[in-house]
Amino acid sequence: MAGEERNIKVVIDDVRKTYQGRTGEVTALNGVSLNIMENEFVTVVGPSGCGKSTLLNIIAGLLEPTSGRVICNGAEVHGTGMDRGVVFQQYALFPWLTVKKNVMFPLNMKGLKGPQAEELAMKYIKMVDLEKFCDHYPKELSGGMKQRVAIARAYAAEPEILLMDEPFGALDAQTRTQLQQDLLDTWEREMKTCFFITHDVDEALILGQRVIIMSARPGRIKDIVDIDIPYPRSQETKMSPRFLELKNYIWSQVYQEYLEVRK
Ligand SMILES: Nc1ncnc2c1ncn2[C@@H]1O[C@H](COP(=O)(O)OP(=O)(O)OP(=O)(O)O)[C@@H](O)[C@H]1O
Ligand SMILES: [Mg+2]
Repeated sequence: MAGEERNIKVVIDDVRKTYQGRTGEVTALNGVSLNIMENEFVTVVGPSGCGKSTLLNIIAGLLEPTSGRVICNGAEVHGTGMDRGVVFQQYALFPWLTVKKNVMFPLNMKGLKGPQAEELAMKYIKMVDLEKFCDHYPKELSGGMKQRVAIARAYAAEPEILLMDEPFGALDAQTRTQLQQDLLDTWEREMKTCFFITHDVDEALILGQRVIIMSARPGRIKDIVDIDIPYPRSQETKMSPRFLELKNYIWSQVYQEYLEVRK
């Protein structure tokens, strides 16, 4: 990390997004610009409805911006691509496939088949601690377990850019802490570019190199905070004075925006 030369991986260039709502036009994002560096871990916080998911979906290519553009790896984004993997808050698994087959699915799409695909899938199934359930179907799993399968599936495809929209939001505290640590360890080892949305300031801080704070709708970037806490980080990091100082600052910034929403 330190001293390492890094390229820009994602350029978000003056993105604006409006929706046609029931009561007229809704401006979800206005003038959002951000460069995300290769192998950078960026986390995003902001009040509900400020456009975080909209921005992630635009980077993923699931939505087109109304104006502005997103460039990934030097090419303007129009549609989804295997270079970008997405994890949503709500697990989106194929109910007719077992855990293993769900995780293998994107690998098959990439042309990887047979024992090679199975081995890679099992590596990530083990990471989320579901080895014993690899032949189960989604309906046989709890919500938290299903989400862990969705996470394993996104990791298994080994995308260059991981886009995560509150992936741990619906999980119990212990599983959430465990998956934060796994994600940190994976990132420290494999260094993928991560764009991670959360409502949890602790989570944003423990994971991210930079925390992007978004303003109330129409979403803009209100502040970008460099998290100058070295890696490797662990759950103990959450007790350090610097962590608490940054947490107070970010929390108060987000709270101000939350009050804007309530006005
Ligand atoms: N398909 C749609 N049609 C109309 N309005 C929409 C649509 N999708 C989102 N919006 C509006 O755009 C705004 C931003 O939504 P978005 O889901 O991006 O917010 P968010 O920051 O992800 O919120 P949350 O934290 O609750 O997930 C909201 O006001 C929402 O109501
Ligand atoms: Mg959202």
